[in-house]
Amino acid sequence: MIIRRTFAVYVAVAASAVAIGQDSCVAFQSSSSSAFPVVTRGKATPIFLSKDDWPGVQRAANDFALDIQRVTGVKPAISNTTASTLKSGTPIIIGTLGKSSLIDAIVNNTKLDVTGVQGQWEAFTAKLVNNPLPGVSRAYVIVGADKRGTIFGLYDHSEQFGVSPWYWWADVPTTRHSELFVSNSGCSHGSPTVKYRGIFINDEQPALQSWAAEKFTNGTGSPWTGSPFNNLFYAKLFELILRLKGNYLWPAMWGSAFGIDDPFNQPLADLFGVVMGTSHQEPMMRSTPNEFNLFGVGKYDYTTNAENIQKYWINGTERAKPYESLYTLGMRGAGDIPLSEETNIQLLQQIVDDQRKIFAEVYNGTDVTTIPQLWALYKEVEGYYDDGMRVPEDVILLWADDNWGNVRRFPTDSERTRSGGAGVYYHFDYVGDPRNYKWITTTQLSKVYEQMSIAVDRNATKVWIVNVGDLKPYERETEFFLSYGWNATRWNANNIDSFVASWAQREFSLSPSKAATVAQIAGNLTRFNARRKPELLTPTTYSLTDYREADNIQAEWNRLSQASTSLYNSLPSNVKPAFFQLIHHPVVASATVNNMLIAAGINNLRASQARISTNNFADQVVSLFSQDFDLETQYHTLLDGKWNHIMDQTHLGYGYWQQPMANTMPAINRLPPKKQALPGVMRIVPEGTKAAWPGDNVNQCAQGYNCPPPSVALDSHSPFGNRFIDVGAGGPVPFTFTATSNASWLQLTPSSGSISPSSPEQRVFASVKDWSAVGAGNSSAVITFKAVAKNQPTMTVTVGFTATRNNVPSGFKGFVEGDGVVSIEAAHTSRNISVSGVTWTEIPNYGRTLSGVTPWPRLGNNGANFTAGSGPSLEYDFVNFNTIQGSGNVTVTTFVSPSLNANGADRPLAFAVQIDSLPPQTSYFIPSAAPGQLPSAWSGLDGFVANSIVSVVTPFQGLQPGAHTLKIWMIEPAVVIQKVVINTGGIRASYLGPPESVRV
Ligand SMILES: *[C@@H]1O[C@H](CO)[C@@H](O)[C@H](O)[C@H]1NC(C)=O
Repeated sequence: MIIRRTFAVYVAVAASAVAIGQDSCVAFQSSSSSAFPVVTRGKATPIFLSKDDWPGVQRAANDFALDIQRVTGVKPAISNTTASTLKSGTPIIIGTLGKSSLIDAIVNNTKLDVTGVQGQWEAFTAKLVNNPLPGVSRAYVIVGADKRGTIFGLYDHSEQFGVSPWYWWADVPTTRHSELFVSNSGCSHGSPTVKYRGIFINDEQPALQSWAAEKFTNGTGSPWTGSPFNNLFYAKLFELILRLKGNYLWPAMWGSAFGIDDPFNQPLADLFGVVMGTSHQEPMMRSTPNEFNLFGVGKYDYTTNAENIQKYWINGTERAKPYESLYTLGMRGAGDIPLSEETNIQLLQQIVDDQRKIFAEVYNGTDVTTIPQLWALYKEVEGYYDDGMRVPEDVILLWADDNWGNVRRFPTDSERTRSGGAGVYYHFDYVGDPRNYKWITTTQLSKVYEQMSIAVDRNATKVWIVNVGDLKPYERETEFFLSYGWNATRWNANNIDSFVASWAQREFSLSPSKAATVAQIAGNLTRFNARRKPELLTPTTYSLTDYREADNIQAEWNRLSQASTSLYNSLPSNVKPAFFQLIHHPVVASATVNNMLIAAGINNLRASQARISTNNFADQVVSLFSQDFDLETQYHTLLDGKWNHIMDQTHLGYGYWQQPMANTMPAINRLPPKKQALPGVMRIVPEGTKAAWPGDNVNQCAQGYNCPPPSVALDSHSPFGNRFIDVGAGGPVPFTFTATSNASWLQLTPSSGSISPSSPEQRVFASVKDWSAVGAGNSSAVITFKAVAKNQPTMTVTVGFTATRNNVPSGFKGFVEGDGVVSIEAAHTSRNISVSGVTWTEIPNYGRTLSGVTPWPRLGNNGANFTAGSGPSLEYDFVNFNTIQGSGNVTVTTFVSPSLNANGADRPLAFAVQIDSLPPQTSYFIPSAAPGQLPSAWSGLDGFVANSIVSVVTPFQGLQPGAHTLKIWMIEPAVVIQKVVINTGGIRASYLGPPESVRV
């Protein structure tokens, strides 16, 4: 078994306050003298600030007072004061070191030790201070090292008071308490792990934009662009970002221009304390191409129009100069496409040089290297870097993912010494190849953790920015991303569930056990949606005939829906809207889409089998299609239409990468309900075939007519333990049937039934009653289905049945071949062998089926790799009874997460597979790609991001039936293995691979 590391779990889910990953310093009961009252006996402690503090601190302090009122119903008095006027009382005092003269006076007066926070970016401390000022006996003091340090100190308390960062954005109710206390020892936090932690509102049409137009404008947007994203919208967003302890924003840019849509946007960001940037394709703080289209002179082509483009950028720089900004350098072609083909590194180098000159000019007298700047190595720009282009040392290198959550590059050893450092641009939402994904949450937190923890390991911690699309469907993921960047030491592979559980407690006031259920629901929701994004699903994604795959997928979704529904129904009405938005809608809406597509697949297949139940599935599709719209409508009508339009995103009927202009129902077929199929009343369809009997069918045998009767086979270690044969109606005439066999060891359940238009199908399971009653090897039987219908001749169809009893060698422990494969979840090892302190370690809830296993720590072994056969290994004991056509050959398919060669070209991802003492075979499984490109296996509808897996196939020769050991050897870190399948000749096509084999 995999040994999970025991990490300290920091999440204190105290009965007193529920907050996520924070030190706890809030209580709701009057307790000992170690607590300082915020509100007690109906009275609120007054709050004092200094008028020379940051306006953003003043504003957040007002939120803080409102939050106290939200919890207690009592609003504290809040006012400015000075050290000389404040002469009595026991107040709460808030302020920023070096900015608030009040705080500085307290520090001087009391020698309050602020060494832990002083000079630390965004740090804060809060505690009881005795005699802070003459006449003032004690005060609870919240001190920030800088503007946002103070703001985060306030919001940290608010969250513990019970005000969710999402109180407005997801209608999370605040639990009322009449008494509110903070502990004298208070709460504090040092500098966050990541300096700039941000989100990118992107591709915000149709949902967010249409919603914002209705809620924040009177129908007319910006005079320049028509954009609805004005300061009323942004005030809500800035507050959310700060409550989530983020500090950075790339604003909506699809049809908007932040700086001009509303002249208050940019100053308001600064007032709040949010650092503004612009996306990878919009240099120098201008919304490009929108602003260039409006104000630019000439073409957006630096080779012919540099002077005018410079003027355009100077304008953006001058506009941003008064405010806190993180500038994006470089240039892409208008509309987020590569610069023209003739352009080259030299040109881009020139562009960056010219941009630096613009800084020198506009920030006259300021050292250019102190102006925060980044260079986004997105798509082809990464290629320019790989080809040798460099920017000045102080510029942050912003590495990007592949738009699908797989980071393309992390800083190598030599790159980690750059003073500017590095960051990561990540995606929860995307418009582009192979298909958009922008409808609903599809990102596993475990995957975010897995990728972003490499960023922590490799010091890409200057900037993290995540594309959140319309923001709304990705609330939890956004919070996790920002929380992990805020304090990476809190979170590890084993406590992500506790993040979600604490989140559920905070949002829905749930008991710990119900919160754990929510964590499971959220984990499964994102796991199922991450297997293949809904936009990429088709009616035949999951096998309709093999491994009962489609049936299991439907059953999984239905179980999830039921779990969510029963929780939803149990909630008080004030919690339901939040639960609906954050959990229930995505679960039920995703289940609906999956069920609809599978029902369409079954419908299409059954039509070809002349089964009258075809029509039931057609009806199901029609009904699920309207349910899809009903769920959208339910969201839109929630809370008197507060979220109208927010689920406008189309998601059904994609024909190419771009979204369809309307949802379209998957194609369905119908049979004439009153006409009988040519061969008679009964249709027989055994498991594992697309064909039906009697009569002709193209899938029966090669020529499609005069084919033999069907047959099924079952071996003693099939994980299913039985086979089924469907008995279906071929028309409107009711009939009864019996199923009998000529073998006493064969059991048929049920062995008879009645079929009619209202009950047109019966599944009959065939199993072996007692394997010891059949001899070793193959035993055959014949199952006879006989149908009796009024005024029709009796109909008979036979199905051959072969039972194969395989004997496991005595004493063997491990996985046993069944159905011609050995399928193993990677975490289910027989042995897990560490080398040099590096161990394959499980990432729970990761990937498509169970979990992922990856070498840990990633920079262990001094960051060096291993040669095949020398490193840490996973060992799996298995027994096989067959090889492919008796040849002695088997193939091993290792299901590996679709990571990229992010450790640099000289360290491509690799691992090795070995069986027994056959030579280990090394796989460099991510093909190399031209600089700035992705490998071809990445793309397309059958590429590894669409499939969310890389299948690495390794053939082995010269294997006898018997007990063996399969080993997976570490070569490089950051390889995540999910599952291993050994084909001994029986593998069938499916999406997720065969289910796990029997283990003895
Ligand atoms: C404190 O002073 C600042 C600066 O003059 C002002 O903006 C703010 O509204 C004042 N706060 C209160 C609570 O009066």
